[in-house]
Order: sequence, then C-alpha cells, then structure tokens
Amino acid sequence: MMRIIITDSYRQMGREAANMVAGQLYLKPDSVLGLATGSTPLPMYRRLIALHRSLGLDFSEVTTFNLDEYVGMAPDNPQSYHYFMNENFFSKVNIRPDHTYLPDGMAEDLEAEGHRYDALIQQKGGIDLQVLGIGQNAHIGFNEPDVKFEAITHCVELDEETIRANSRFFQRLEDVPRYAISMGIKTIMMARRILLLANGANKAEAVRKAVCGSVMPEAPASILQLHRDVTVILDRAAAARL
Ligand code: GLP
Repeated sequence: MMRIIITDSYRQMGREAANMVAGQLYLKPDSVLGLATGSTPLPMYRRLIALHRSLGLDFSEVTTFNLDEYVGMAPDNPQSYHYFMNENFFSKVNIRPDHTYLPDGMAEDLEAEGHRYDALIQQKGGIDLQVLGIGQNAHIGFNEPDVKFEAITHCVELDEETIRANSRFFQRLEDVPRYAISMGIKTIMMARRILLLANGANKAEAVRKAVCGSVMPEAPASILQLHRDVTVILDRAAAARL
C-alpha cells in the first residue's frame, strides 16, 4: 500500500517527512530508524534538529541504521556516509553515538559484514521506520538495477550513472568509490514502515517507475509496491510523471 503526498517544495517535503519521523518517536520513543544520506533527506534532518531544539524532540532512546557506506572509506573521511550523518544530524541532536550504526566500508570480509549488519538490525528489534531516497536509475540504498533483487546487506559495484550523479560531492570523477556496501532489498522491505522521498525533475522518471511501473529488479524501487506501508513524499517536480 502506497500513500502519496505531493508537496509544494523541497523544504516542504522535508517538513512532512520530519513530521512523520517525529510522530513515530512520539508513539515509540525507542524506535529503530533506518536512515539515508544524499541531498534528498537534508531538509528532513534540518527540521528534525529544529524540532529537537524547539520542542525537545527526544532521540535519547532511538537507534539508527543507515542504508549504506562506500567501500574503503574510513568513518573520519569527510566523504564517507559516517561523516555525513555526524555532520548533518547525529552531532546536532541528543542521539547516543553508540546507538547509531552504518555498515563498515572498511571491513575486510564484506560478506560477513553484511550478515553481521542484518543480524544486528534484527537483534535491535527490526526497523520501525525506514527513510529512503531514490537514485535517478530507481536505486534504493545502493541497490542498482539488476537481473534479480539482492536480498541482504551486500557489496555492490556502482553504476556509471550513480558514480556520475554522486561525483558532485567529490573533487574528481575518479575519486568516487566504485563499490559500496548496502542494505539489501529484503533488509529494506522488512522495515515496518517505509518513507520514500524524492525531489526535483531529475527524479520524476524514477518515481514513476517506483510507484506505477512494473515490479522488476531493473527498477529496484518498484519492489516497494509490494510493501504494506509506504508513504511517498514528493515535491511537484518529482511527481510530474505520475
Ligand atoms: C545515493 C544513495 C542513495 C540516495 C540516492 C539519491 O547514491 N546511496 O541512498 O537515495 O543516491 O541521492 P540524492 O538524494 O543526493 O539525490
């Protein structure tokens, strides 16, 4: 079941998303949140920080699991997703650092790391609310278009398109890592609730595939049509092809 909310702007998309997260924490202060990086969720994080400061929205009992991390990137590397999360969210709210998890891109055995990560999510009770962005090729996390849906947290070779899109965060195209470790499709689908966010005209086609295209691994986000509780929050440009 998908609920679709079309907002007027990127900022408004972020507010709606933050309100949903805040509502989740109001009902269950010790929620397990699945979090995403990228430009898309930034206004959501900004609004959550504002709610923490103005209303005392409390993260002290929250646990978080991020979707993905680049392979070979240490947490203190400014381009790592660890760094991104600390910089844009964790350091600005009262979340306990030992309650925030990301896959370890430095792990020697990435397959074992994937198993460890999925087991840890289950051990913490499973994800209550998973926040997702979407790639221009309809990837979620770093699950690139494929001939099958990869189930568990695993190492992925990134598509040229993804490397190009993400190169805006790096000095040179060659600096973008070619591999990442990402939650798998089943890991994501096991979340009790899912929040898919997208903004901008360059996401309109991916959003169309996710919401009304055929369910197929060539459009990874289309699997979300099989989930029972997905809220899609868009700005007008991203909703243009619905
Ligand atoms: C990245 C991330 C995804 C993200 C997507 C969109 O590659 N791995 O989790 O949703 O691409 O990024 P952005 O929000 O910057 O457009």
